[in-house]
Amino acid sequence: MTIVVTGGRGALGRHVVSALPDARAVSRSTGTDLLRGTGLSALEADTIVHCATSFRREVDMARAVLAARPRHLVYISIVGVDRVPFAYYRQKLAAEDLIRSSDVPWTILRATQFHSLLHRIFAASARLPLMFVPGFRFQPVAEAEVAAELARLASGPPAGMAPEIGGPEVRPATELARTYLAAAGKRRPVVPVRLPGRTFRAYRDGGNLTPGRAVGRVTFEDYLT
Ligand SMILES: NC(=O)c1ccc[n+]([C@@H]2O[C@H](COP(=O)([O-])OP(=O)(O)OC[C@H]3O[C@@H](n4cnc5c(N)ncnc54)[C@H](OP(=O)(O)O)[C@@H]3O)[C@@H](O)[C@H]2O)c1
Repeated sequence: MTIVVTGGRGALGRHVVSALPDARAVSRSTGTDLLRGTGLSALEADTIVHCATSFRREVDMARAVLAARPRHLVYISIVGVDRVPFAYYRQKLAAEDLIRSSDVPWTILRATQFHSLLHRIFAASARLPLMFVPGFRFQPVAEAEVAAELARLASGPPAGMAPEIGGPEVRPATELARTYLAAAGKRRPVVPVRLPGRTFRAYRDGGNLTPGRAVGRVTFEDYLT
């Protein structure tokens, strides 16, 4: 069985490639641009694990991957794309819908935010004397654990909507930010930011969480150390 991993050098994709020794990474850096339509012959495979992403053109990307007509398409999505009306999440949901309505056999896995994403957000906000963080909770998960689940799903038959995967702990962003500061040896006042609007309300209501599926084992502390 041949397996291709789009975005196979990204934060998630490189772990999927490590977990599937025979898989081939495909991205712009290997000569395939899913949006410009170049190098698409590299997508020819029995199974495509689709980890490449585009903030504004996620649906166009999914269309390009479906056009390669794999026997099994495995797509990584995000917990809460159907609850949080963030523009990128709407794109992810529309991409899911396109895949669900296609005749390509599929599996979709939704995951919570990755530890590496929170790490990047906190590192950027810690550049200021006051550390502003979102006034809601996260349930971060190790991308290596999500990758292991994607690899397992890619090795099996198409499974439709797979059970979601969330990190082991639901914690306020303020607590996670203090954990980051302690690990980085920095001291900053942490200021929660509350913004108006439907998107932030949905986050405050826990739309990005899946407490019933807290199946990841690696905590944010573990990840940072
Ligand atoms: N980050 C999170 O917290 C999180 C949580 C849940 C789910 N997810 C989902 O996980 C997936 C992967 O996220 P990630 O954080 O690993 O992203 P990432 O590190 O930004 O990797 C994305 C990959 O997409 C490739 N790519 C971008 N544009 C492309 C194009 N036009 N053609 C071909 N390849 C292209 C990039 O490689 P090149 O630059 O070489 O093309 C890159 O390797 C996304 O679908 C995301 O929605 C992420």
